[in-house]
Amino acid sequence: MKPGVAIISSLIVLFIFASCEKETLNTGGWAKNVAFQKDVLPMFQVCTDCHGSGSNFDLTSANAYNSLIEGALVNITAPEESQLIKTLNGSAHSSYLNQEQKNIILGWINEGAKNN
Ligand code: HEC
Repeated sequence: MKPGVAIISSLIVLFIFASCEKETLNTGGWAKNVAFQKDVLPMFQVCTDCHGSGSNFDLTSANAYNSLIEGALVNITAPEESQLIKTLNGSAHSSYLNQEQKNIILGWINEGAKNN
């Protein structure tokens, strides 16, 4: 094999590996088999001081699911575009949940945002 060909082949192989890795990061970061009641709802305990019952956006256990769905805050075709996620990443809210928790919420939205 000529050196030029060898270099190009290695670059192609590298490129293929690099693109695989990107795939895994994009979708693999989101949690799988997420249950709303067990996995998502408990995270909202830190929210209810401000988003309590009677507030415009009620995140207490009994009402959180309806608030999210009726407020159209989740986008199941593009989870990262959900208003819920955008708000959580915004400066006013960014300290409440860590990336691991957001990946659970993203996984839940990606799986259809079910009340499971
Ligand atoms: C210290 C008070 C406070 C806490 C705690 C808080 N929020 Fe908020 N949140 C607000 C205020 C005020 C607004 C309205 C202004 C805005 O959009 O930033 C808001 C708006 C929102 C919105 C946008 C609602 C809409 O209709 O567009 C979402 C979604 C949200 N909060 C989610 C959360 C979640 C989830 C948590 C907990 C992880 C949380 N917030 C914790 C004060 C708070």
